[in-house]
Amino acid sequence: MCRPTYYTIAYEINPWMSLKRQANHRRALMQWTRLHELLTRRLKARVKLLTPKPGVPDLVFTANAGLAVGRTFIRSNFRHPQRQREEPHIERHVKRSGFRLVTLPRRYRFEGEGDALWMNGALLFGFRFRSDAPAHEELARLLHTQVLPVELADRRFYHLDTCFAPLDDRAALWFPKAFDRYGRKVIEGLVEDPISVSEADAKRFVCNAIAVGRSIVLQEGSSSTLRRQLMRRGFRLYPLDLSEFLKAGGSAKCLVLRIF
Ligand code: ARG
Repeated sequence: MCRPTYYTIAYEINPWMSLKRQANHRRALMQWTRLHELLTRRLKARVKLLTPKPGVPDLVFTANAGLAVGRTFIRSNFRHPQRQREEPHIERHVKRSGFRLVTLPRRYRFEGEGDALWMNGALLFGFRFRSDAPAHEELARLLHTQVLPVELADRRFYHLDTCFAPLDDRAALWFPKAFDRYGRKVIEGLVEDPISVSEADAKRFVCNAIAVGRSIVLQEGSSSTLRRQLMRRGFRLYPLDLSEFLKAGGSAKCLVLRIF
């Protein structure tokens, strides 16, 4: 995770961001701290911190730094110049932490865990708005694993982790309309128990959820239907208010990158 010390809305690179709707700095820091405390104290996750840096306000969304697989780290090739400025900083940190750093050919954009999520031993890969489709072959080659590319169809859900969240090896949250027909088929084939969320829940970024064992951390305000569906499956819910990060088009999951 990365503390939101320099987090602001400094540009508009997705439909949620507006320079006219600035994030409240004090509130953002408080919301981030609650997430950090929930993960470390309640859920006993070990969290490493990336040093914040001025001039790269979206660095807080560490899910986009890259994809960590064991000790290998595939660094992102960001689509937008505003975020490309994060790359050298991420690279230095990752190398210093002892990972083997890998990059994809520059011509392929790739936004890390934002667009690449493990489900059932396969890597589901979302492309179009941020990552490029051909990057999936590079990923498969590097990781010696099955990579399933799915095209994202709705600009509001521009990263895979805004419309899909693996919960365990059977269940995942998703917003089906964010995918095209082929993508929906791929997901229905891969996920035994797909839980579709309503458009209202999707717009609240409930799919941007973090699963830690049977605990799920997600944006507060989800519908009672969804809460019931999750509780029936034995999940414990930890809703958090992450309003200041929603203004940048991100929520709980975007603020963390899994390393294991
Ligand atoms: N403002 C950031 C961007 O547009 C938000 C990133 C959200 N991250 C995510 N993994 N969905 O790039």
